[in-house]
Amino acid sequence: MAKHLLYLCQNLTFMTFLEEINRRRTFGIISHPDAGKTTLTEKLLLFGGAIQEAGAVKSNKIKKGATSDFMEIERQRGISVATSVLAFEYNDIKINILDTPGHKDFAEDTFRTLTAVDSVIVVVDVAKGVEEQTEKLVEVCRMRNIPMIVFINKMDREGKDAFDLLDEIEQKLGLKVVPLSFPIGMGYDFKGIYNIWEKNVNLFSGDSRKDIEETIEIKDLNSEELNDLIGDQAANTLREEIELVDGIYPKFNKDDYLAGDLQPVFFGSALNNFGVRELLDCFVDIAPTPRPKQSEERLVAPDENKFSGFVFKIHANMDPNHRNRLAFVKIVSGEFKRNAPYLHVRNNKKVKFSSPNAFFAEKKEIVDISYPGDIVGLQDTGNFKIGDTFTEGELLNYKGVPSFSPEHFRYINNADPLKSKQLNKGIDQLMDEGVAQLFTLELNGRKVIGTVGALQYEVIQYRLEHEYGAKCIYENLNVFKACWIEAEDPKNDEYKEFLRVKQRYLAKDKQDQLVFLADSSFSLQMTQQKYPSITFHFTSEFN
Ligand code: G4P
Repeated sequence: MAKHLLYLCQNLTFMTFLEEINRRRTFGIISHPDAGKTTLTEKLLLFGGAIQEAGAVKSNKIKKGATSDFMEIERQRGISVATSVLAFEYNDIKINILDTPGHKDFAEDTFRTLTAVDSVIVVVDVAKGVEEQTEKLVEVCRMRNIPMIVFINKMDREGKDAFDLLDEIEQKLGLKVVPLSFPIGMGYDFKGIYNIWEKNVNLFSGDSRKDIEETIEIKDLNSEELNDLIGDQAANTLREEIELVDGIYPKFNKDDYLAGDLQPVFFGSALNNFGVRELLDCFVDIAPTPRPKQSEERLVAPDENKFSGFVFKIHANMDPNHRNRLAFVKIVSGEFKRNAPYLHVRNNKKVKFSSPNAFFAEKKEIVDISYPGDIVGLQDTGNFKIGDTFTEGELLNYKGVPSFSPEHFRYINNADPLKSKQLNKGIDQLMDEGVAQLFTLELNGRKVIGTVGALQYEVIQYRLEHEYGAKCIYENLNVFKACWIEAEDPKNDEYKEFLRVKQRYLAKDKQDQLVFLADSSFSLQMTQQKYPSITFHFTSEFN
């Protein structure tokens, strides 16, 4: 009898565990700056009741103008802890939005966050169309087969024709789109949206350029009521356009979307709260629950009973007197429990977390238990690195937090010889946080800092001084790209010659991987031609 009861209890616990996994949706919103990511995030939080008024979510973007870029970064660092993960409940679904900085100098941060999302929403400005940052980010998502939904924003403004824009998205982003909603008019004539997913029409009941939330629903596209509300011409145009949509685009298929082969598109206006509920309702319906993740050793499923997770982001505290940092861990499998002993695989050390943070809207709270799909913030005194894995004992290493070739390179020199220890520690820890990449030249051991944007050099200099008491100066270095080297046969003569001839262009990254610092695109091409058995990778992860 007791055995029976125990079995029943275990079964029930397992059921709740599975229910918890299945009700989670962890995603990121990506866009070019200004397309409306912050506004959309805010509207989603409003629907979830997580915030009460618009304007509550602070934009963490770097605003041009008013203050120097640098002060903005400091301000942004403060805000971005709060907005790193925004969690809320909607119709009993737990939604975790992972914040991705839009500023291009922080692109690396965004790429890393994309390793922790299960899907993304791509925001496109109807007037500007597909912009540079969106292209780059979507490319990363495509490479990883991340399911994507596209939201075309600012329909209250004059913009591109819907069909032209859909074409542009297909061509520039390499996506296969299927509209699940369609705009009725645009800009001044924007009247509402036909919801293809739910097969109904939502109309603005007034001036489209004001904050209007009230909608009128019409169930049948062919009803006379539609003509009465929007006029014969607009009604007929809509019917024709929907017929065209049916003819041109494939039928929506959830499996194709989940496989990253098909991308649903929604139209709306985040600012006016239009089309957002449609997007959210469809999102909770179709977006993936936490997905399995590949480790170097094996594929790990979320419903495995043992906990595992990985660090995708590290945030230094704002208080320079306490060097505590917050490591953001995505839970991949099992339950994460407060005070349970876990293995920090890289250091082969047992660690316990007495005050793990869970995130909720803009607050963080200490949590006893978290589930796959959730993010926990773990206090760290400088031992964790981006990409680190935690388990209940298994030696797993999660793949997928790659480094990309930086765009800028400078020597970093010590400006205060008495503080070299502090400088090295500071550089080390800032690199672990993923602020920039460090390369050590093979020839003379000099240190080179590579960054995505020029802004990071200021940040590093400031933080070294204020957090570590060290001073640095930079020296220019002419490097075009860093390429990670893979030799077909490390013993062959060609590779040996390459190592000898190119010695002064070779460096090691922080993981001790060999990197070729090409000084121009031409020299890179020549080197590639001369050494065909060597592969030059633009990302550190190529196995
Ligand atoms: P981002 O996070 O992607 O960078 O964009 P954000 O939401 O901050 O929006 C950028 C600008 O676009 C903001 O205006 C915002 O109000 C506006 N916006 C967002 N959605 C819509 C929309 O649906 N229609 C229209 N017309 N505008 C929209 P801003 O003037 O730069 O900032 P603010 O002073 O309004 O905050």
